Amino acid sequence: MKFFVDTANLEQIKEANDLGILDGVTTNPSLMAKEGIKGKEAVLAHYKNICAIVDGDVSAEVIATDTEGMIKEGEELAALHKNIVVKVPMTQAGIKAIKHFSDKGIRTNCTLVFSAGQAILAAKAGATYLSPFVGRVDDISWDGITLIEQIVHIYSTYGFQTEVLAASIRNPMHIIQCAEIGADVVTCPLNAILALLNHPLTDIGLAKFLADHKKVNG
Ligand code: G3P
Repeated sequence: MKFFVDTANLEQIKEANDLGILDGVTTNPSLMAKEGIKGKEAVLAHYKNICAIVDGDVSAEVIATDTEGMIKEGEELAALHKNIVVKVPMTQAGIKAIKHFSDKGIRTNCTLVFSAGQAILAAKAGATYLSPFVGRVDDISWDGITLIEQIVHIYSTYGFQTEVLAASIRNPMHIIQCAEIGADVVTCPLNAILALLNHPLTDIGLAKFLADHKKVNG
């Protein structure tokens, strides 16, 4: 399973990368805005900065909502760095753009996915990654993990090459559940990744090991 960090914050990306287990980064317009990145030049420069930190796929989302605009923007983003993956929303215009990018060998991440039907269309269009939003499905009292399971099953039944990238991950249990059901990728806030480290018995055990060592060694 690949681990992406879901942020545009350079410090958090560095910290995640320093763990040595990071496979990529996802961003979206909200995450870019949260970092105060505004204006085209600043946005492009920020993606380049992220690519300089992480040797892995970096999703950069288009803002245009029409196919022509998405293609223009996406081609510009893809030209920035070999690791850029063009993130495209799950709309009719987006599906057409994904098909165009796929035919041209430009990798894509189809985002804002909330149903198996949407997942089938994205795979048919040749999306590299599919981003179903686990947490936002949970937010409306449905089951985000069941959605991931359903899509993994459909993709495996038909041999679709699109990778299931579980997004809107909110906690370590989401990560573990995604691993259990075979999601290809999870993109997580840094705190959800770091929370996987924690277990009280590890802390208690380490304290005892060090205390016993000190008894004999002083
Ligand atoms: O990758 C999509 C993600 O950024 C959305 O997360 O927590 O805003 O639903 P959230």
